[in-house]
Amino acid sequence: MIIKCPKCGKSFMLNDALLKNNVTQIFCPNCNNKIVVEKNKEDQKPTENEYQIPKEKLDKILTKIEDLPTLPIVIQRILQLINDPKATTKQIGSIITSDQSLTAKTLKLVNSAFYGFSKKITTVDQAIVIIGFNAVKNLAISASLFDIFKNMNQKSGFDRYGFWTHCVGAAFISKQISEDTRIGNPGEIFVSALLHDIGKIVLDIYFPDEMNKILYNANNKNISFIQSEEEILGFTHPEVGFLLCRKWNLPENLYIPIRYHHHPNKAIKYESIVAIVHAANIIAKAGNIGYDGDSVTPKISTHAWNLLKQTKPDLSTETIKIYIDSAIHHIEASDFLKVAIS
Ligand SMILES: [Fe+2]
Ligand SMILES: [Fe+2]
Repeated sequence: MIIKCPKCGKSFMLNDALLKNNVTQIFCPNCNNKIVVEKNKEDQKPTENEYQIPKEKLDKILTKIEDLPTLPIVIQRILQLINDPKATTKQIGSIITSDQSLTAKTLKLVNSAFYGFSKKITTVDQAIVIIGFNAVKNLAISASLFDIFKNMNQKSGFDRYGFWTHCVGAAFISKQISEDTRIGNPGEIFVSALLHDIGKIVLDIYFPDEMNKILYNANNKNISFIQSEEEILGFTHPEVGFLLCRKWNLPENLYIPIRYHHHPNKAIKYESIVAIVHAANIIAKAGNIGYDGDSVTPKISTHAWNLLKQTKPDLSTETIKIYIDSAIHHIEASDFLKVAIS
C-alpha cells in the first residue's frame, strides 16, 4: 500500500505483508517521522481513479459487458451474508450445502486442488476447517463461473483447453509461492490466479471477431496479447476481468490481482498478492503450461520479484523450475482441470 507521511508529505510504498497487526508503527524513510498505519484501511474500497481506468474507457467496457449473466442466487446470498457482521461461518457453509450440485462441484475442486486422491474431504464443514472459509467460498464462486462460461458458445479460434490449463497451472504455482513466502492465504490466492485471465473468456464470448483479430495481430506483429488488445479494442482483459468481478460484487482480494497481474507495480493495495499472481502467470507461460493465446513471455517485474524475496530470499531460477515441475505434476495427478472444464 502507499503511505503518505503527514509531516513531510512524501509518499512511499509499504509492503502489505509487513502489516501483521491491525495497527503498525513505521518510520517515514524521508523525515523519520513516526507514522501509525491501520491495516483495516486496506479493506476500504478505492475510488475508480485508484484502479487507473480512465472514465471514458470504463464506460466503454461497462456498456459492452452489461449483457453478462448474473451470478447464481446461491452465490449472491453467500456474498450478501459475508457483508453481514452477524453472519456466522456455519450459516454461510449451510448456504453452499443447500445447493447440491454446487456442493458436489466445490468438493471436487477442493479435493483436486489441495489433497489429490489420498486425503479426501467429504463435507463443506470439513473443507472450511482444513482450507479455510474464504478459500471454500472462492472455490464455490469458481465452480459457478466455470458453469456460466461453459454453457456459452464459443465463436472465436481461442484455444479454451490450453487457456484453462494455463490458468490452473498459474493457480498451483501461486499457491506454492504463497506457502513459500508466507504471503496471503494460499487457498485464496489459488482462486485469484485461477481467474486471473477471466477477461479473455469474456472477450472470447462477447467479442469473437475482435478476439480473432487480437490473436492474429499479436502473432503477425509478434507483440504481446495485451498490446494487441490495446490496438484492436482500446481496453484489455485485466480491465474486463476486474470490472466483471466487481459487477458481481466478488471480494476485492480476488479482483485486484486480476486487475494488475500484468502491471504489479501499479497496484496500490494487496501488492504482495498481486506480485504472486503476476509471477505465477509468467512462470506458467515460461514452463509452457497450457497456452493463454500470448506468444510473448515477459520478464517478472523487478518490483514484484523483490517483494517476494523479502520473505523468501533464496527465490531463484532453480526455485522457478521446481514450481513448474510441481504444477505440471499437480495438473496431471489431480483432476482439477477436468472438473473445471468438463
Ligand atoms: Fe493476462
Ligand atoms: Fe495468464
